[in-house]
This record gives sequence, C-alpha cells and structure tokens, in this order.
Amino acid sequence: MVQDPSTLGYTPLERPVRAAIVGLGRIYDLNVTAYVDNADVEVVAIVDPSDERRTQRQADWSAAQAFRSVRELAASGLAVDAVELLLPTAMNEEVVTACLESGWHVNLQKPFAEDLASATRMIDAARRCGRQLRVMENYLFYEPLQRLKATVDSGELGPISGYHLKMVASGRGGWDVPGEAYEWRFEQARRGHGVLVFDDGWHKLSTAIWLFGPVAEVRAWIGSTEVIPGVDVDAPSTLVWEHVNGIRGVWDITFAIDMMLRSDYYTNDERWEVTGRRGFARVNRCTGRGIQQPSFEVYLDGEMRSQHALDDDWGSSFRDSGRHWLRWLRTGDGPLWWGAEQAMDVLRFALAAYASSDAGGVGVDPRLL
Ligand SMILES: NC(=O)c1ccc[n+]([C@@H]2O[C@H](COP(=O)([O-])OP(=O)(O)OC[C@H]3O[C@@H](n4cnc5c(N)ncnc54)[C@H](O)[C@@H]3O)[C@@H](O)[C@H]2O)c1
Repeated sequence: MVQDPSTLGYTPLERPVRAAIVGLGRIYDLNVTAYVDNADVEVVAIVDPSDERRTQRQADWSAAQAFRSVRELAASGLAVDAVELLLPTAMNEEVVTACLESGWHVNLQKPFAEDLASATRMIDAARRCGRQLRVMENYLFYEPLQRLKATVDSGELGPISGYHLKMVASGRGGWDVPGEAYEWRFEQARRGHGVLVFDDGWHKLSTAIWLFGPVAEVRAWIGSTEVIPGVDVDAPSTLVWEHVNGIRGVWDITFAIDMMLRSDYYTNDERWEVTGRRGFARVNRCTGRGIQQPSFEVYLDGEMRSQHALDDDWGSSFRDSGRHWLRWLRTGDGPLWWGAEQAMDVLRFALAAYASSDAGGVGVDPRLL
C-alpha cells in the first residue's frame, strides 16, 4: 500500500488508542461497530449535547465518561488520542479545530465541509497541530466495490470504455431516521447542498475518484422535487464527467418516494457498472437490497460470473473503515482512505457539479475551483 504524503512523520501509538466518540446520533450505530471487541482501541469518552443520546449510548460503554461538548472533554483533562466525529456537517469545522488543538487525531464523517475555505482551514489546523485528519469513506471498504476495483485494475475487462452509477432514493422501507437527522440536512439543502447530490452523493463521487483518478471536467443538471412544502429533494439529477485519463462516467439520480425498498439502512438503491472493451463488471446493490441477486457480477466472453459469497452488508463497510483507521493509528501503514487532501478533491468534484448546473450544464474543471 502507498503511504499518504500528508501522513509522513506520524509516530504510531504503542498502546490501544484512547478514543472519544463525538456525536451519538443515527450513524453512531454503524460507526461504533469498529470499536466493539477491538484490541486496538479503548473508548474513554462519549460526547453529545443531547442528554437522551448520552444516556442511551452510555449503556454501550459503561467505563467511558460522558460529556456535553468537546470543550468540556478537553477541560476535564482526560487523556484522549483520537476522536470519531459524527456530526451535522455544519458543525465540522468548529469541532474538528477544537479537537486538533486539543492534540487529538480526527476521524471525520463526510461531507468534509460545505465549501473549500472551511475544508482548507481544517487542513491547515491539522498541519499546525501536527495531528492526523482523516475523512472516512466507508464505501471504499464495501467488499463488492473492492471487487469491482480489483477487476478493473486487473485489466481483464480490457481498456475501460466508460461507466455509470445509478441511484434511486425511495421513501418507504429501511431503518428509522429521526427527524433531527433530517432537519440539519434539509437546512443544508436550503443552502444549495442537497441530500442526494451533496450529502449522500459524496460517496459516489468518492468511488469515481478512487476507481479512475482525478476528474478533469464535470457537467451537471441538478433538479428539484418538492416533498412537502418547504422541503425539496435534489432529483432528478444527472452528472457526467471525464477523468484526466479520458474515461467518462455518468451518474443518474432518481427519486421514487412511494417505492418500497428493502433495506436494513437507508432506502437507496445503488449500482455501479464499468464497461471495458472486452466485458463489464457490475455492483448490483449497496445500502439497500433492491436487486436480490449476487451483489457483484462480471460479464466476459459470453459468460456471466456471479460472486455469491461476498460480505455485501453495507454496515460492514463502516466496521472495516473504522478498524482500518484504528489499526493505522497503531502502525501508520498505508493510505488513510481518505486523507484530507483526497477528501478535498471529492469536495471540488461536488462543487464543480453545482457550478456546472448553475451555469446551465457547461463543463467545469474541478481542479480550477
Ligand atoms: N458514511 C455514511 O454513509 C453516512 C451515513 C449517514 C450519515 N453520515 C454522516 O454522519 C454524520 C452524522 O449523521 P447522523 O445521520 O448520525 O446525524 P444525527 O443528526 O442523527 O446525529 C448527529 C449527532 O450529533 C450531535 N451533535 C450536534 N452538535 C454536536 C456538537 N457540537 N458536539 C457533539 N455532538 C453534537 C447531535 O446531538 C446528534 O446526536 C454526518 O456527517 C453525516 O453526513 C455518513
């Protein structure tokens, strides 16, 4: 594995990571799976302003101390090495900066920030404080997507001709999402950064960069559908782009509010399909369980090969992403997936899509933002 340049000089921890989990809402349930029964870590603190959340999560970590804020945690003098930040995106900069300045490494949820200036300030703070800032990307740890990347990289499909991603967001099925978790997302959407393209879309744009490298041009047509008065969802939307290596991708986003979708998590039906000169490879599902057939298939020379024994539970990608981080803190080996600079490229990609759509679908080079 290649070392991230930004992590050079990192000194691995010689003891289990003393971790604080900050933000104990919906996604805590999946992120926490990396911390359970993991000898690399000891959860020493949990933090959330909500009394209800602290009480609920204290049951998972009886030895951890509970705090209302990271300022309160820092003032307590409790020894912490790293924090897991699971916050509404608008809170990221304030809390990330406070954590870095307290001397803690940070594993941050996506999206990194709503604008480049905020993300840049967080990167500067990490450099100034000599601490690691990771923006986790659990999709890179989803086994069917890892198989897709391995198949593309192996060359068996031949030179890649192009690829597409599909996402249908539905309104029925899946786990319960509390109203508060939607409120800040709808607020963010009112600032122009929608739930599908910007918030969830972060992952799809991430996988595009992970699979095929830097993006040279994006063209987008971002639509809007009113769900209830005052609340719009950013679909139908279509994004098209070309990587620096000339490979083109397209992502279509559809909203099907009344469609029942079987899912253990959010109701997103997602697919990735990469076509090469010799054949294609397809990931049939991810977050939801829309297509009930093997999650990864390769078509070559007139034969379809299906993988029946993959860990295709989307929740496992959180466990494995988190374990990778905690192991990384103990060893410093390999890439962070993602380091902050790579997350900056994902943010540029998203913002280029908005810039393109606002200008009527013209081509925008994300590297020039
Ligand atoms: N990787 C993924 O696939 C994925 C999926 C869902 C959510 N997320 C990300 O996870 C993060 C959290 O999302 P969620 O759905 O759990 O949201 P949520 O609203 O359910 O939970 C957020 C929690 O943060 C707490 N909080 C708010 N301000 C805080 C502060 N200053 N300090 C400490 N705690 C604070 C809230 O009280 C709440 O309990 C977001 O960044 C979101 O984009 C990622």
